Amino acid sequence: MHVYPYTITISSEKGGVGKTTLATNLAIYLKAMREDLPVTIFSFDNHFTIDKMFEIKKCEDDTHDVHALLMGAKASEVVQTGQYGVGYIRSSTELGDIHERFKGPMTLTRMLAESGISGIVIIDTRPDLNILTQNALYAADRVLIPVKDLPSLENCKNIFSLFDQRGIDKKSLALIPCLIDSRIKFDGIFKDQKTLLRAIAVNRGYRCLDSYISKSPKVESLNTNPEGKIYPILTHARGTEVHGQFMEITRDLLRSVDATKETRACLYHTWLLEKEASKKESYLARLEGLAERCLICGAVLAEHSDDRCFYFETSDRSARGFLHGNCVSSMLCSALYGLQENDHTFAKAKALVADKVAGSVSLLLPEIGPEASRLDYRQFSMSGEELLQKSVEMPGFDAGEFNGVHDRLYLLLNEALAGFEGALRKGSWLSVYPVDPENPEAVLHEDSYKSIHRLQKHFAEAILSI
Ligand SMILES: Nc1ncnc2c1ncn2[C@@H]1O[C@H](COP(=O)(O)OP(=O)(O)OP(=O)(O)O)[C@@H](O)[C@H]1O
Ligand SMILES: [Mg+2]
Ligand SMILES: [Zn+2]
Repeated sequence: MHVYPYTITISSEKGGVGKTTLATNLAIYLKAMREDLPVTIFSFDNHFTIDKMFEIKKCEDDTHDVHALLMGAKASEVVQTGQYGVGYIRSSTELGDIHERFKGPMTLTRMLAESGISGIVIIDTRPDLNILTQNALYAADRVLIPVKDLPSLENCKNIFSLFDQRGIDKKSLALIPCLIDSRIKFDGIFKDQKTLLRAIAVNRGYRCLDSYISKSPKVESLNTNPEGKIYPILTHARGTEVHGQFMEITRDLLRSVDATKETRACLYHTWLLEKEASKKESYLARLEGLAERCLICGAVLAEHSDDRCFYFETSDRSARGFLHGNCVSSMLCSALYGLQENDHTFAKAKALVADKVAGSVSLLLPEIGPEASRLDYRQFSMSGEELLQKSVEMPGFDAGEFNGVHDRLYLLLNEALAGFEGALRKGSWLSVYPVDPENPEAVLHEDSYKSIHRLQKHFAEAILSI
């Protein structure tokens, strides 16, 4: 069964509000309180706090890091087993060049969904809202936004408006008062820092956790010691009230984890798979409706599958299929130049025609009149600009006579465009697209077919205005 992680992102545009302290210690508390739950942490920061805290032994190979993950490396290769049973991915100083790859805001969600990482993923972000932070925000089942004062609370609105801009539900976002100095008291109803911050937050429509984190000199001292290590609150600051606060936040998070049936990664992945499946379904449906024969020479294409160089489609989409390259160029050579196959210039002219149509779309619009029938033939570039227009007389077409020169053209028009009673369907036309003879069906894949669909629409509009 495919596993998906529950993702927690810690984010704030303001620096020094306690993001990394919260992220790293949460990882340790979560693991301690739920031993069987895998916890993985990584950071987009380049402070290497994660590494200092979780590294068991110095790693020689410095390629398995966050940069590698973001470049598409398998999670199983980059996640290391760290101290306290927490999995971590080593930090990187090379994240500056990754923005190109991360144009889309959901790239990280997809990566996490496909990573095979289970349990909880904690992402510590930089104090900005760059594309990596945005990816981490959208990937999260829970976003914790530490706020320590009014300026950091002011900054929150940018995160909220990012979600608004993209129309994403903001229920994952929650503020948490951090670095709260309990010695500071105010007169009036907002008696202290955390009450004031929470009141302002709620007033602005932001969700705010009931828990908060106090400022503690003991906690502050955990990253300053002769060993150059960073110690966890759980092991080195148990006596502080911050320890109890972390227990409370962790319990709250575990409740959310337990109550979540489908994580963001799971939902997004399911949506992606459905999209893929529907693409595949449309492709199969397109394959199914194809004509079995080349409508010019009549050969069964399954038996004469070489040289399928063109795809044709009628304006009403009722006939579609492949045509031989040789059949199309012979047909056009005769139709456009009035040449028969035994004329001595035929081969040369055909080569010329073949060259032209290999890179352009041909539009065949028959005009059947009571006295005379004509073919309005047009050539377009693949981007839809008209390159050539020629009006071809079609003597005897309406009477069903063949005249040697136009036989192939008449066959194609009749096969593709004739209605029940033999006459051509009124106003119908067909267009012929060059395809890769090595893999003609590729043209029916969603992405390539889109451009055919677009051109067909463009032609329909152009014809209406004639
Ligand atoms: N509860 C606390 N009590 C006292 N000091 C704290 C507490 N939490 C964090 N600190 C200290 O505050 C400083 C900033 O914390 P931290 O590095 O976690 O913030 P940050 O938001 O990750 O910063 P940056 O934006 O630079 O990444 C650090 O020196 C840290 O030791
Ligand atoms: Mg930090
Ligand atoms: Zn053919």
